[in-house]
Amino acid sequence: MQEYGGNVKSQHERSLSSLSVTNEKQLGLVDKFGRRATDLRVSLTDRCNLRCLYCMPEEGLPVLPLSKILTDEEVVRLVRIGVNYLGITKVRFTGGEPLLRKGLETIVSECAQLRTTDGEKLDLALTTNGLGLSHRARALHDAGLKRVNISLDSSSREEYLELTRRDRFAHVMEGISAATAAGLSPAKINAVVIPGVNDDSSEKLLCLALNIGAELRFIEHMPIGPKGQWNKAEIITSPSLIERLQRSFKLEEFPKSMRGSSPASLWGVAAGTLGTQEYPAGTVGFISSVSQPFCAECDRTRLTAEGRIRSCLFNDDEYDLRALLRSGASDGEIASQWQEAMWNKPARHGINDDGFTQPDRTMSAIGG
Ligand code: GTP
Ligand code: 5AD
Ligand code: SF4
Repeated sequence: MQEYGGNVKSQHERSLSSLSVTNEKQLGLVDKFGRRATDLRVSLTDRCNLRCLYCMPEEGLPVLPLSKILTDEEVVRLVRIGVNYLGITKVRFTGGEPLLRKGLETIVSECAQLRTTDGEKLDLALTTNGLGLSHRARALHDAGLKRVNISLDSSSREEYLELTRRDRFAHVMEGISAATAAGLSPAKINAVVIPGVNDDSSEKLLCLALNIGAELRFIEHMPIGPKGQWNKAEIITSPSLIERLQRSFKLEEFPKSMRGSSPASLWGVAAGTLGTQEYPAGTVGFISSVSQPFCAECDRTRLTAEGRIRSCLFNDDEYDLRALLRSGASDGEIASQWQEAMWNKPARHGINDDGFTQPDRTMSAIGG
């Protein structure tokens, strides 16, 4: 049966944190470098109905059997522990493709009942490829979802097909419209830029995003997809893309304070015309994980679909909460293990270091 790689730590292999949960309540999920994680990213499945070049191989990527995936109740319990004991204020559901999870609306509505330690509602968001969103956006909004980030790497059906290996461009566009109509706002569009595939059409994608009132973020390609594919010398960095876009658009960078905890640098775009196509003013973001890493300000903790805490996208050390859940552990014991996982979070991803090795899992298996 499929289990992903990674160095799994479990309760049986190591002692629980020496710091007691009661003390840690004030500290939450802190690490050795003084960062505090308040943003929980929950992967609901490792399956996906697209096969994006930069994320998954065309075929042959095994998936977890359902028995190894957390149930809806287990997911909600862990989110509740994160919120009640550990200071989580923001929860983002990811995958694989989270819309493939039938219980998504139920999970969202249960999580929407939770309150942060300040008594506030959670910032509940979803990162999705948008397939099937047109039918579910309203129900997700009504269940308590606030925001949605949708992957759309090109404004051209042909390029979209090349990048995702599926001919579903029109369905994603329907999903984006439905999300906006349902009040899931701002709708953000994620576009990973791959040289020779979609870099030459970045202007058209920006024009499309501005016209549909979505906030487009261009993302630097990270070494977390199929092995052997990423080449640092070839990636399109944000500074080079900004320089390119400035030839066609009037861009002005917003102060860093406007970003909040988002990894994207934000730029204002003045209204204008691209060819014969007019576009209104709006914003565009750049997520520069490789050229300008934001690890020093990282506030993320990740829960994989099979219930492991992963402190960083690029750290293969994982802490197994599913084993604790299924062996009858208390909330406090689970919170303690989670704290230990985060205490050991590395300072940074190390992508730019000599000797960097790619993580064992692909993005789809970790949670985007
Ligand atoms: P917002 O709160 O809406 O800004 O969410 P987000 O941008 O954090 O979430 P999203 O899931 O849309 O992620 C956007 C991109 O950021 C992903 O496609 C990744 O390329 C990158 N990203 C997400 N999480 C991490 C992370 O933990 N580390 C790094 N280096 N990059 C990440
Ligand atoms: N580099 C950067 N971003 C990636 N994503 C998936 N794989 C990669 C990668 N190798 C992004 C997707 C999606 C989010 C979940 O992660 O585009 O928006
Ligand atoms: Fe945080 Fe790791 Fe992502 Fe850097 S790579 S931002 S440390 S999760």
